Amino acid sequence: MKVIVGVSGGIAAYKAAELVRALQQQALDVHVTMTEAAQQFVQPLTFAALTGHRVLTSLWQDADHSNPDAAMEHIAEAQSCDALVIAPATADLLARMAHGIANDFLTTLYLATPAPVLVAPAMNVQMWEHPATQANIAILAARGVQILPPESGALACGMVGSGRLADVETIARAVVATLHRRQNRKQDMAQETVLITAGGTREPIDPVRYLGNRSSGKMGYALAEAAQQRGARVRLISAPTQLQAPAGCAVTPVLTAEQMRAAVLEHLPQATLVIKAAAVADFRPRITAGQKIKRSGPITLELEPTGDILSETVQRRLPGTLVVGFAAETNDPLEHGRGKLARKGADAIVLNDVSRAGIGFESDRNAATFLTESRAIDLPEMSKRALADRILDEVLALRRDKNLLSEVGAMPTRRAPTDRG
Ligand code: PMT
Repeated sequence: MKVIVGVSGGIAAYKAAELVRALQQQALDVHVTMTEAAQQFVQPLTFAALTGHRVLTSLWQDADHSNPDAAMEHIAEAQSCDALVIAPATADLLARMAHGIANDFLTTLYLATPAPVLVAPAMNVQMWEHPATQANIAILAARGVQILPPESGALACGMVGSGRLADVETIARAVVATLHRRQNRKQDMAQETVLITAGGTREPIDPVRYLGNRSSGKMGYALAEAAQQRGARVRLISAPTQLQAPAGCAVTPVLTAEQMRAAVLEHLPQATLVIKAAAVADFRPRITAGQKIKRSGPITLELEPTGDILSETVQRRLPGTLVVGFAAETNDPLEHGRGKLARKGADAIVLNDVSRAGIGFESDRNAATFLTESRAIDLPEMSKRALADRILDEVLALRRDKNLLSEVGAMPTRRAPTDRG
């Protein structure tokens, strides 16, 4: 497996050489990329000699302007690595990562890689404790970056406090554990064809206005990415979002609840698992005005109910297809969640309390209760990407409990999604 060690410009840069050695002892293929500042502390040659690979130091390194492959090297590296570990990570590097500034090879690689990212900060204690650095750390942690906090002790600057690079063995162990988790998970959904709905539907009032809701699509997209990375074939039925579809997922864009219903029913026969994370309008205007409604005093909108896609999915599914709904509740969540589970007939409901600050709609974080007929499993607050994996763990456990895999295996092969339309 290939691990890239990113080295930024702090006095602890020399310890990255020990980290390279520790990772190599785990039979990992280690590559190194250095920021310009890191090269003030350690020569790239040190790492080239240790790894046997060219050290990547610049986006324009060895630039051959007639060779398109050279211009895309950061993408090739990003796609081919199994983990990126940055040690030491300086305050400046953390700030650039948190704010999406991609102005050198390492920060560009960070933005481009789908691999897990670990950072081991090292700096002066005041820089580490500064609210700006702590805010950047919080942003990165919320996005799923694994932070390996600095240790306390005597620092190179002469001060004593927190800021010393985490122990090299600790960093190496965290990298190995991450790789194991990723590898074990890699193929545990290889038998699944997953249909996921995401985002908030829009019900047109007139050509310029619509009834919508606050769903950003982040929860559904995180589930799609997690399932895809675990080997599933994934079709994402997506109401409008600002998000980039996860690589490898087939996407059907929709606008209204009725379009979402039609897309779900079209793809349902191929699905072994349906997860309905979308926030679907429960009502739509009975009449959509053909022209923009002019401002002329109070108006009354007559609303009619939309179809309940989740219930229809449950009724029309083939034997062996698991159906998991979501419930967004603001009061008495457990009671309402249980009611929804029973009424809709789903195998499970992922219940989230959207009245809680900092989670739910739009946030990068969420917390949920995975509700089945017999269990209520608490999934505490974490990033939506991490929660997606926890939800999928519970779905797979539920499939095992229900012993449905044999039924799915006995069914005719289901067609996989192949396109992005
Ligand atoms: O998109 P994010 O910003 O990341 O936010 C995530 C989320 C809060 C939207 C998500 O976690 C969530 O809770 N989604 C479900 C929101 C919702 O519509 O809940 P509900 O309780 O109104 O609906 C219950 C279930 O029925 C849902 O699975 C919903 O998709 C489904 N439904 C609802 C109405 C309808 N007409 N048809 C349906 O199938």
